[in-house]
Amino acid sequence: MQRTAILGLGHYVPSRVVTNVELSKRMDTSDEWIQQRTGIKERRHVDFPNDPMGSSDLAARAAANALADAGCAATDIDCIIYATLSPDRNFPGDGVLVGAKLGLAGVPALDIRNQCSGFLYGLQVADAFLKAGTYKRILLIGSEVHSTGLDFTDRGRDVAVIFGDGAGAAVLGPARDDSQGVLAVALHADGRFADELHLPFPSSAKMPRITEEDVRAGKHYPVMNGKNVFKHAIVRMPEVVGEVLAAAGLAVSDIDMLIPHQANLRISEAVQKKLELPDAKVFNNIQKYGNTTAASIPLALDEAVRQGRVARGDLVCLTAFGAGFTWGGALLRY
Ligand code: UT7
Repeated sequence: MQRTAILGLGHYVPSRVVTNVELSKRMDTSDEWIQQRTGIKERRHVDFPNDPMGSSDLAARAAANALADAGCAATDIDCIIYATLSPDRNFPGDGVLVGAKLGLAGVPALDIRNQCSGFLYGLQVADAFLKAGTYKRILLIGSEVHSTGLDFTDRGRDVAVIFGDGAGAAVLGPARDDSQGVLAVALHADGRFADELHLPFPSSAKMPRITEEDVRAGKHYPVMNGKNVFKHAIVRMPEVVGEVLAAAGLAVSDIDMLIPHQANLRISEAVQKKLELPDAKVFNNIQKYGNTTAASIPLALDEAVRQGRVARGDLVCLTAFGAGFTWGGALLRY
């Protein structure tokens, strides 16, 4: 059976750079606190009102870059898989919106709701579709606009400083030979921890779904128990890396590059330490972009390739952990 290969990669981030110093003018925080606790120096925000964009706009630009990298036309794509927690609308999903923006009327679009692990969930679905021969060229996108939904007051400072806007995309198709392709993907979820990181309102379990009082109380902003998320992430990520390595019959020492979901530089460093990987084999770019949730893995992978840190044939390991909880790992020969 032919493996699934990454034929092209692309990303897009808004041009507006938001530094820690800028945030510290809007809320009680500091460059020192943010860098020490998260490693983040700056992130990108969509520039409202000058250049308004939604998640699907970022996605369309990242997709165009990935298509160019793959040497494909948009019309070569026969399926879109789109991961986000910040869709333009509650429904329909962003998949159809990006399809329309790319001129792909009639092409199926599947939306994935698995937050930081969304790209890996999408990768497993795409891998199964391609192996079954259901589709030949899949566009897999992770895209987020967080900045329009964060509480930039002291109340929301723990969450607001972490997240950034961005998009990453991959064109996937059958590998030409065994020197390339996805070797293993492992996914997990545990909804007992749903309250640890979530956006409570609007909710279909409430009548009405949101009230003015809810808005005044900030219930339309994400809530996070950062310490608990951190604690679970640094255990689950190395664990699932072990799982994909075992599935492929490989060892940690075979990994050429680990690309962890960019949640917090301290999380990436803890995962690196647990796996005993040298700095040269771990790629981080959270310093520039913050946590871009579903976009973070394709954004980091694309940058790693463009910087020459990942070459064709390298063994690349991806891992993510986030809201749900959901987590996963993937092993591929780039
Ligand atoms: O994408 C996957 C999902 N998300 C994650 O993986 C995030 C995981 N968690 C984290 O990254 C960290 O828990 C945070 C960066 C969110 C927080 O770091 P922490 O070291 O766990 O800090 P903390 O929550 O224990 O807060 C320590 C102190 C508190 O003050 P007191 O109670 O010690 O007086 C907070 O109120 O830091 C305060 N604090 C802040 N201070 C300045 C919280 N946010 C901020 C802030 N600036 N932005």
